[in-house]
Amino acid sequence: MTETKRVLSGIAPSGAPTLGNYLGALKFWVEDQSSADCFYCIVDLHAITVDQSPSVLKEQTLELAASLLAIGLDPKVSTIFIQSQVPEHTQLGWLMESTATFGELSRMTQFKDKGKGSNVTRASLFTYPALMAADILLYQTTHVPVGDDQKQHLELTRDLALRFNNKYGETFKVPHPEIPSVGARIMDLQDPKRKMSKSSETAAGNIYLTDEPDTIRKKIQRAVTDTENKVRFDPESTQKAGVSNLLTIFGALTNRHPVEIATNYSSYGTLKGDLIEATIETLEPIRKRIAELRCDDAALIGTLREGAHKAQLVARDTFDKAKEAMGLIA
Ligand code: TYM
Repeated sequence: MTETKRVLSGIAPSGAPTLGNYLGALKFWVEDQSSADCFYCIVDLHAITVDQSPSVLKEQTLELAASLLAIGLDPKVSTIFIQSQVPEHTQLGWLMESTATFGELSRMTQFKDKGKGSNVTRASLFTYPALMAADILLYQTTHVPVGDDQKQHLELTRDLALRFNNKYGETFKVPHPEIPSVGARIMDLQDPKRKMSKSSETAAGNIYLTDEPDTIRKKIQRAVTDTENKVRFDPESTQKAGVSNLLTIFGALTNRHPVEIATNYSSYGTLKGDLIEATIETLEPIRKRIAELRCDDAALIGTLREGAHKAQLVARDTFDKAKEAMGLIA
């Protein structure tokens, strides 16, 4: 018997969503809607693992909600919700913290990069992967579409699910990551050694889903390349990192392989020109739709509340099962 595909994924409202988020994950969230039962979560509790101004966090959460609908997620088909509105996430998060070890959490590279060994790093940044495991396991998820940077968190989630099932009895499905072959790691346009990130302090290296065509044009025209002026896909070489990133973006936007695209170009100028057109073609309808949706924030909030009610019905079931399995009286 083939098992039903159940998808869950999340995105943090820690900044405006970028083309990296779109090509590494969100695009596949939309595709999965036609073949799976999907749960998509705005993970606001993950955003507060670093400092956030409350008013900015609210605004970013609404902007992200509008962005998710604008790219084509349909609340009639998928369950779209805010993590903090389903309390089972933090509840199961605690059970997961009581399943994971200090050693495991200490090895998470994202914690080491963001925490930078500082004493004022929030404790929640350290335990974040346990909450992320809870996000996934609550929904008996079979597949998790994510970018490459979430691979280690997914491996931990699988380890925790297996450990829990072995110790306390079969409780969770063990999820599989879905990482795209092209676009899983979109890099910053100004510093192609760094990943494009919505929490980055400089906007020049990021393309946002809300960027106007003119802004997109300028950012791509100014994207760092090299002096060789040879269009070649070689993401491992430091010299070709910039042009390889442009080819990856182009490939992910048009569902082609970057190596194949490279063969069509003999100068950076023409490559950039065509990439600008392809990027605007994809993002312009999304930008317009976000603006329309933001005219009615109350409707957006209502949609997310409905999503949270639907999500909670599934989450409660799994949480009760996990509690019972651990010997906590339900
Ligand atoms: P977040 O909010 O940083 O990113 C959301 C999704 O976008 C992907 N992504 C990228 N893909 C390609 N290139 C990039 N430059 C790039 N930047 C981001 C991420 O891999 C991710 O898939 N911890 C997660 C959120 C989370 C989650 C979950 C994800 C919380 N709970 C449960 C899946 C399942 C995060 O911070 O993603």
